[in-house]
Amino acid sequence: MADEKSFDPMNASSPSPSFSEYLRQASPYLAQHRDKTLVLYLPSSMISDAAMLQSLARDCVLLNSLGLKLVITLGAGDWLDQAYREAGLSWQHHHNTRITQAEHLPLLESTIGRVRARVESSITQASAEHHLPGALVSGNWVVAKPKGVINGMDFQHTGTVRKINRTALTQTLAAGQMVLITPLTYSLSGEAFNINTLEQAFAISDLLNADKLMLFQPAAELASLPKAVKGSELDRLPLSARLQGLIHAHGQGLKRVHLMADNQPDALLQELFSRDGAGTLIYTDRYHQLRPAQAEDIPGLMRLIQPLEAAGILVSRSPEQLEQALSDFWVMEIDQHLIGCAALNAIDGDHAELSCLAVDPAYRDQGLGQELLDQLETQARTQGFQQLWLLTTHTHHWFEEHGFRLTDPQALPASRKNLYNAQRNSKVLVKPIETRI
Ligand SMILES: CC(C)(COP(=O)(O)OP(=O)(O)OC[C@H]1O[C@@H](n2cnc3c(N)ncnc32)[C@H](O)[C@@H]1OP(=O)(O)O)[C@@H](O)C(=O)NCCC(=O)NCCS
Repeated sequence: MADEKSFDPMNASSPSPSFSEYLRQASPYLAQHRDKTLVLYLPSSMISDAAMLQSLARDCVLLNSLGLKLVITLGAGDWLDQAYREAGLSWQHHHNTRITQAEHLPLLESTIGRVRARVESSITQASAEHHLPGALVSGNWVVAKPKGVINGMDFQHTGTVRKINRTALTQTLAAGQMVLITPLTYSLSGEAFNINTLEQAFAISDLLNADKLMLFQPAAELASLPKAVKGSELDRLPLSARLQGLIHAHGQGLKRVHLMADNQPDALLQELFSRDGAGTLIYTDRYHQLRPAQAEDIPGLMRLIQPLEAAGILVSRSPEQLEQALSDFWVMEIDQHLIGCAALNAIDGDHAELSCLAVDPAYRDQGLGQELLDQLETQARTQGFQQLWLLTTHTHHWFEEHGFRLTDPQALPASRKNLYNAQRNSKVLVKPIETRI
């Protein structure tokens, strides 16, 4: 049976978790997400699949009932393609964008109307199942403008977002209503425009300063993505050019973008209510926090360092020893979950020792270890230490790459030399603490 502290219900290798265990893991997120604004992009393929739509509708109603403010943007691409095919029409494209001709607007209006009706009826049904009144509204909060003539190509009734009626949208959400937005949007002169839904979801998220933009995307495109990535590191990811461009264009206005596979409707709840999520998080704000440890962190610290102690990488500490040394520790957390730690102990007035530097394996290779080290060096500098010492059995290369140099155990300050465990035979490293001018 998995230890509850290290239990991860979303990890397939964990034994089958109980309902209570799921609920326990989700509970911190319930309070955390309440009143947060979330823009969700539903691609047309998921709307076409009755079972997926039903599941998504239930989850949207659940999120709304938990106090999240939900803006749902509907894709209609597949539906429009089929309607065009059936009508014997074909799209004109330019740079992967559809050109919407005036004579095709009636077909566009009726098709998007059907997509909207499908979603509205599913959400009404899901609300009834939850014994909740229907709380989905759509309206003309988004104002369109023509995409215009680009490189000589007139995009006609293909539009972009000109502005949103933020006050009305915010009030609607504050009243507990879910907002539904379709690609069919109007300019101030009343002309109809077809706006690419993904572009619309980004623009609304940006203009609304939403807390999260959650996008279902083709599963194959997400297969090799990491769990979390900084917005500035996007270029190295195999994302579509459209998605890359939108993230760059709206980078400053977005807080967190979650990418979820379009064959996994459950990813929405998993991404929101489990520690490791089910998709990829692109974060543009400060995603993790670095702070001094406090008493409540002891279970999280034990969970983090025990496997490393068992592997002989870190020296074993009992919970009591950890508690006594707690004021030496800094911790790094994500969504109230500890993912890193390090301690700084004074040896004497001039020398301090760095110990217990650890980053949760799921979060390594993102520069977090370096960030912890930088923080402790700053602490050491602030406290007036001249040299930072370190004993390690496995990781001396990493520290050498971060400015430490190997030295003889005999060079340790006298009080630390007496405690050196010759059996453990750790390598000893030292780094001068430079005073910054
Ligand atoms: C060492 C540790 C804290 C680094 O954390 P991290 O968040 O992955 O660190 P960063 O992202 O800043 O650095 C990652 C780089 O270090 C390299 N690295 C990780 N462990 C290494 C090791 N033992 N030796 C050499 N390089 C190592 C990674 O390959 C990566 O290299 P890259 O940037 O070329 O891809 C983490 O691997 C860890 O928790 N290790 C176990 C505990 C430990 O050994 N602590 C030190 C004793 S106090």
